[in-house]
Amino acid sequence: MRDYVELFNLSKSYPAPGGGKHPVVERFNLKIAQGEIIGVIGHSGCGKSTVLSMFAGLVEPTSGGIVVEGREIDGPGPDRGVVFQSPSLLPWMTAYENVALGVRQVYPTAKPSEQRDLILYYLGIVGLHDCAGKHPGELSMGMQQRVGLARAFALSPKVLLLDEPFGMLDSLTRMELQEVLLGLLEPAGKTAMLVTHDVDEALLLSDRVVMMTNGPAAKVGEILQIPFPRPRKREEVVQHPAYYELRERLIGFLAEQERLKHAPADAPAESAAPVLAGKAG
Ligand SMILES: Nc1ncnc2c1ncn2[C@@H]1O[C@H](COP(=O)(O)OP(=O)(O)OP(=O)(O)O)[C@@H](O)[C@H]1O
Ligand SMILES: [Mg+2]
Repeated sequence: MRDYVELFNLSKSYPAPGGGKHPVVERFNLKIAQGEIIGVIGHSGCGKSTVLSMFAGLVEPTSGGIVVEGREIDGPGPDRGVVFQSPSLLPWMTAYENVALGVRQVYPTAKPSEQRDLILYYLGIVGLHDCAGKHPGELSMGMQQRVGLARAFALSPKVLLLDEPFGMLDSLTRMELQEVLLGLLEPAGKTAMLVTHDVDEALLLSDRVVMMTNGPAAKVGEILQIPFPRPRKREEVVQHPAYYELRERLIGFLAEQERLKHAPADAPAESAAPVLAGKAG
């Protein structure tokens, strides 16, 4: 598979309170094939949103960069659709208008009837055909997040960037929306990066899961290949013979990072050989 996206030596540091620099992410390297769905997990505060925000063009890297289909990105653009944890819809506009806003910008020359068909198509896929005329205040959090998904996908971006899109939802709604997301990503063969805290969500949706090390100077720790065939169904995924082993690998990585967070910086790893006293030399 050819590389479609490359994040190369992506680094971000902020001025440290006492002077100097605080490196949040350092030399984050990743190549993504077209149509690949990358899950990103890591402990809170390690820098997942920082990586995604740089990818979205909302945060400028200190060094390194991101290439999408041969072009280095410079700021936000319609080639990348973003969905955040909170829906961030315009409250004075209906669901329809919230989706329409971007569609009109990205397809300014399309006929109004074509724009309308596109908007209603995506509102339909996310299960909101009957709620097109409602304002965000009349919609539940899960429904608002469905509008957020419709809004992002209706722009037909090259890459979807999702930062814990279901993090604020109850587990039942989250499961429903994971399936909505699968239905949007899989048939369209979309390339995506999904930040999540939920290892089961990462396993259900991803082709590979990138496990980030703790900050400061977080980077790609390990990458886990997820072999489940597509299109995926939750029941089949959880019954796959490799499911629990892969799940253990993700949880094991996170547990090890947690241990490192609390270990004194110069303490030997538990598995390291004990140092013998009185050794010559
Ligand atoms: N504008 C900023 N100025 C200074 N430090 C920042 C800024 N934005 C983020 N940070 C720091 O960068 C680190 C990584 O933050 P980030 O939001 O990327 O983590 P995260 O992995 O997404 O966490 P969570 O899982 O809680 O969402 C944190 O230590 C945070 O305090
Ligand atoms: Mg975050």
